[in-house]
Amino acid sequence: MTGIQRLATLGFEVSDLDAWERFAVDVLGLTVGERRTDGSLALRMDERAQRIVLHPGSADDLAYLGFECDDEAALRALVGDLAAAGVAVTEGKPETREARGVASLFHCEDPSGIPLELSSGAATAGEPFRSELVRSGFVTGDEGVGHAVILASDIEATDRFYRKLLGMRLSDRIEGEVLPGVAVEIRFLHANPRHHTIAFASLPMPKRIHHFMIQVGAMDDVGHAYDRALDAGVPIANTLGQHPNDGMFSFYALTPSLFQVEFGWGELRVDDATWDDSAVYDRLSTWGHRPPAPTPNSNPTATPTAQEG
Ligand SMILES: [Fe+2]
Repeated sequence: MTGIQRLATLGFEVSDLDAWERFAVDVLGLTVGERRTDGSLALRMDERAQRIVLHPGSADDLAYLGFECDDEAALRALVGDLAAAGVAVTEGKPETREARGVASLFHCEDPSGIPLELSSGAATAGEPFRSELVRSGFVTGDEGVGHAVILASDIEATDRFYRKLLGMRLSDRIEGEVLPGVAVEIRFLHANPRHHTIAFASLPMPKRIHHFMIQVGAMDDVGHAYDRALDAGVPIANTLGQHPNDGMFSFYALTPSLFQVEFGWGELRVDDATWDDSAVYDRLSTWGHRPPAPTPNSNPTATPTAQEG
């Protein structure tokens, strides 16, 4: 079966690059890679030259999801299948391919119009990766950069696209109240042993992305990141907690672009040979993941922040 192997990179269009750099480096513990002449900034989480790329612009939203195939043959087979299914796929320009540091690059869109980049042959950085703040390191490798929870304008069309065309598999579903009285179905799909690479819901959202998740190798590093976020005055969207489906111990913070990042540890891994994809959970969190407690100066009528796996 053709398909993608992992979410390798995330591209964001951000209006305040300096604030993002401080947030990514000083709070999340990423390191700065290449600063490009077009103003974009590559951030590193491992031996790769880029995992998260910040592009200056006004959208403050996801610019693209960077999916990866293990080799060029698999990528070209996938592109052929997408074209045969009527998906418009274009080959990346040499300058874009060079900027992304990949050997082969194609572009298409998912059913909600979210730009996807399909690639193979990603470059590693010349320098070894070392984060002074995240001693356990980030969980990447074959599992990719992490996961993204995205808008699905049509949940069934999105499900067909990511499963039938990109080759992902269903992990499980959550049907729960994301806000009081607002029930929604969230579907979680995996492309490798990471519990989910993509999750989506047809929830009205102001942006293409609700949150992205990055994972560290030790529970302590979630606690340290939580302390750094509090010390830096970063708004916490959801306090420390744990999800019932992926078992992730995590918190959610607002990025400078006002979508969220989930910072977590301990996610369950999926073995396709034995995994039962029929589970439906009725809550987003087993414990925690609460909106922050109101302070005397906070607006008592403010709506709590929606959270999703
Ligand atoms: Fe998540």
